[in-house]
Order: sequence, then structure tokens, then C-alpha cells
Amino acid sequence: MSYRVAVAVSGRGSNLLALCDAPETGADVVLVLSDREAAALDAARQRGIATHRLRDHQDGAEWLAALERSGADLLVLAGYLKLVPPTVVAAFRGRILNIHPALLPRHGGAGMYGERVHAAVLAAGDAESGATVHLVDEVYDRGAILGQARVPVMPGDTAAALAARVLAAEHRLLPAAVTAAAAAGRPVPFEFPPAA
Ligand code: GAR
Repeated sequence: MSYRVAVAVSGRGSNLLALCDAPETGADVVLVLSDREAAALDAARQRGIATHRLRDHQDGAEWLAALERSGADLLVLAGYLKLVPPTVVAAFRGRILNIHPALLPRHGGAGMYGERVHAAVLAAGDAESGATVHLVDEVYDRGAILGQARVPVMPGDTAAALAARVLAAEHRLLPAAVTAAAAAGRPVPFEFPPAA
């Protein structure tokens, strides 16, 4: 039986598409949830993936009904910018992944998304940045780290240039996380880049 993945989004959906376009994961994206009319929802519809636009993103029962209908084994937050309701975290404990565009525990927490993250990396003078896949709990960006991709910060980098470099790394890291989860039947720590 295939490993069934639901993906929650709020925006563009490039990580969602990277996941859909990575057949090596051995997983099927069976549902895309969004708290808003995001471009990612349209991309999912165009690919014939079931979608659910949340009427109330704080209503755990609404999430759980949609997740149950989809038969999802795993929930992936791919650019989902709100907190997941605690009842959903409890029901899917250990089965929710988030991708964050920095090397957690640095540059995470409430309000840290998009260009703000990359601006903070540059302001801190960090020599490297990257992306992190971690388990989701009740607090933003706090759950156990499962894997990270590292990229250099280049002299003269702008937040936009760094964001593009990190995003390219995210598009490899997230499929690697889901590949490992599908193979183990649950999210597990994984090596990145994968051993040759
Ligand atoms: C990604 O960079 C993801 O890491 C980030 O939002 C972007 C979504 O892009 N998530 C966060 O900042 C969460 N704190 P996408 O919609 O093109 O996948």
C-alpha cells in the first residue's frame, strides 16, 4: 500500500510541486490543504489532487475530517504559515513535518518566514544558511530536527538571492525527508545529501 501524504500550504507551492515531481519518494500526495486561496491550491487542482480550502484554520475538527477522508499517513507543512491546531498535532503526533528556510534552531519562531528569515541570517553575519525538516509540535519551529541542507552565504548576498539558493536546496531536502518517512512508515532522521 502506498504511503499517503497530505500537504498544507499558504502560498506559491514550489515545495509541493517538488514533492509531487519526485517519484522516488514512494509516496502519493493525496490532499492539499490551505488556509487561503493560494497559488499552490490551483497547482494542486491542475494536477488532479484533492484540495481542501479551510473555512476556519483554527478548527481542528475541520482539519481532522479532511485528513481522515484522505487516509493520510503523514502531514507535511510546505510553506504553511499558521499554527496547526493542537488537536491535529495530538492526533498526528510524530507524523507532521515542516520545512523551514534556515538552519534551525537559528532563525525560527513565530513570524519567521519568507524574506524575514533570510534578512535575519544576513543581519547576523552567518557564514551559512540552509533548510531544516523537523517534526511539528505545539510551538513554531521547535520539534525534533530530522534533516538539514546547508548552503553558503555569499559575499554581497541579498535576502532574495539567499532565498533562491535556500529554496533550491529545499526542493531536494523535502523529497528526501518524505522518501525516508515512506520507507520507515513514519518520519525518521535522514542523511542529507543522501550517501552516494
Ligand atoms: C519555503 O521557503 C518554506 O521553507 C517557507 O515558506 C516557503 C514556501 O515556499 N516556510 C516557512 O518560512 C515556514 N516558517 P513554497 O510555497 O514555494 O513551497
